Amino acid sequence: MEKIEVMISELELDKRIQEIASQIKKDFEGEEVVFCSVLKGAIFFTVDLMKKYDGICELDCVRVSSYEGENSTGNITLKIPLKKEHVEGKNLILVEDIVDTGRTFDYLVKYVKELNPKAVKTCVLLDKKARRVVPFEADYVGFSIDDLFVVGYGLDYNEKYRNLPYIGYVKN
Ligand code: IMP
Ligand code: MG
Repeated sequence: MEKIEVMISELELDKRIQEIASQIKKDFEGEEVVFCSVLKGAIFFTVDLMKKYDGICELDCVRVSSYEGENSTGNITLKIPLKKEHVEGKNLILVEDIVDTGRTFDYLVKYVKELNPKAVKTCVLLDKKARRVVPFEADYVGFSIDDLFVVGYGLDYNEKYRNLPYIGYVKN
C-alpha cells in the first residue's frame, strides 16, 4: 500500500480554480465556450471549473490514453473521439488534469484543430515542466509542480486514488 502525502489541499484547489474560471470568463466576454474534458483524469477539475464559471458554456469529453502505471508509453490512442459538429465554429477549451511530457496535449491540439473550431485554448490543473519531451505551454495553468508522481482529484495510480479530494504524491 502506497503512502500518500498532501501536496495541494482542497482549499487551495478551490481558490485557484475560481481564479481560472474568472480569467476564462474575462477572456471570452460575450462569447460561448465549450469545456472539453480529457477523460478520465480531468473530470473532477472540469466539473468544479464549470460550476465556478459564470457564463454560457457547454460540456464535451474526449478520451485518450498513454499511461500504464507510472510510465507514459509515448503512444497516444484516441479512445473516445469528438464529433465535428460539436466543435466546428466553437470556442473550445481543452481541460486536462496534468501536462507531463506534453505528448497528450500536442496530439489533442492538432486533432481538435482539424475539426475547425473558432478558437482552441488549453487549460491544465498541474504542470510538470521538468518532464517535457514535446514543447508545450498551456494557456491556463493551475499549479506548476515538481517532478513527483501525483494522485487524487481525478489523477490515478493504476486507476486508484482518483477519489481523494486533494492532490497528493506517492511517498516512496
Ligand atoms: P503527457 O502526455 O506525458 O503530458 O501526460 C499526460 C497524462 O499523463 C495526463 O493526462 C495523466 O493522465 C498522466 N500523468 C502524467 N503525470 C501523472 C502523475 O503524476 N500522476 C497521474 N497521472 C499522470
Ligand atoms: Mg489524463
